[in-house]
Amino acid sequence: MRDDVLTSKLAGFGTTVFAEMSALAIKTGAINLGQGFPDTNGPSAVLDVAVGAIRAGVNQYPPGLGEPELRVAIAEHQRRWYGLTVDADTEVVVTAGATEALAGAMLGMLDAGDEVVLFEPMYDSYQAVIALAAATPVPVLLQPDSDGDIWRFDPAALRAAITDRTKLILLNTPHNPTGKVFDRGELELIAELALEHDLIVVTDEVYEHLVFDGAEHVPLATLPNMFERTLTISSGGKTFHTTGWKIGWMTGPVELVSAALLAKQYLTYVNGAPFQPAIAVGLALPDDYFTTLRSNLQVARDRLADGLDRAGFVTYRPEASYFVTVDVRSARPDGDGMAFCQSLPETAGVVAVPAAAFYMHPEYGAHLVRFACCKQLDVIDAAVERLVAAFA
Ligand SMILES: Cc1ncc(COP(=O)(O)O)c(C=O)c1O
Repeated sequence: MRDDVLTSKLAGFGTTVFAEMSALAIKTGAINLGQGFPDTNGPSAVLDVAVGAIRAGVNQYPPGLGEPELRVAIAEHQRRWYGLTVDADTEVVVTAGATEALAGAMLGMLDAGDEVVLFEPMYDSYQAVIALAAATPVPVLLQPDSDGDIWRFDPAALRAAITDRTKLILLNTPHNPTGKVFDRGELELIAELALEHDLIVVTDEVYEHLVFDGAEHVPLATLPNMFERTLTISSGGKTFHTTGWKIGWMTGPVELVSAALLAKQYLTYVNGAPFQPAIAVGLALPDDYFTTLRSNLQVARDRLADGLDRAGFVTYRPEASYFVTVDVRSARPDGDGMAFCQSLPETAGVVAVPAAAFYMHPEYGAHLVRFACCKQLDVIDAAVERLVAAFA
């Protein structure tokens, strides 16, 4: 076999660390706090619609833009939570998860040599889809402040990252893995730079409903003059405990949605027909569904973060999302988070993910490890007990 089978665009990308760590969890029977997926079902009102849709024959290709009832529900969701007006016929497209919307956006908008400014650490698909588009990611570092709970970037570093090759800023808020919610001041700076340099912004807001302690998620598209240049991406997986359904969407001005749709239609074309009406029902659930979702997860966040504190780690308590990050140097003075995670199933019977996987410069995050808190409390308690026994 020739030795250049893999496209050079993907040189340096291997099996994801999530697959490696999940395999370790299965092999060792350890408690898996690695990959971020909930271990309980979502609302039965949502599940029942999907079951009924399959039985009723909603099993063929949905329309290319997505089922109209879901597109209307997405438009209504943007109005209800953020006061944004989007046209369900032209400014909303349903995708195979947020992941496909991101891929569609990068492949549909970027040319070879274009630069994408983004924040590191970052969700692991970003680098790969930018590489597939033959474009160049330019990272700006997020670091915890002195209290350790708010992650910040240096505004001068953001300014300096923008060159005349920059076409796009890719922003994830609320942020994985840090749990940061970009505040209004930070968003204003991003908006100012986008307007000054005529940049497109693609935002990944999949954790939009999972914010804690009264923090406010502000979509960048709501800032003055930003709707026109922002493609907003989200999905139902986190909000309705349906990560395996892969129903996502993008909303924004026709020019941006159309460019991303053009690439998207050659990726999957369409997906998930019977799940689309179910997510439409989910998006229309009353407010207390969403408030209970976030308050339950906040309890789980506290339970895990308190436990990790007790186990002796420096713990970064997230403002949002599924994840709690720790500095493992109390347990592993060499700060090798990867080695820590590889041995964790054996030393403590728990699986976590090395945060280095989220960095373009792994050395910045080598000592950090991410634990998922989107699990039942007794699962978190059992994991904490093991970690305290092993490390406290
Ligand atoms: C920041 C971020 N974006 C996108 C995704 C994937 O979303 P989806 O499952 O809808 O493709 C995840 C999942 O973990 C994520 O953390």
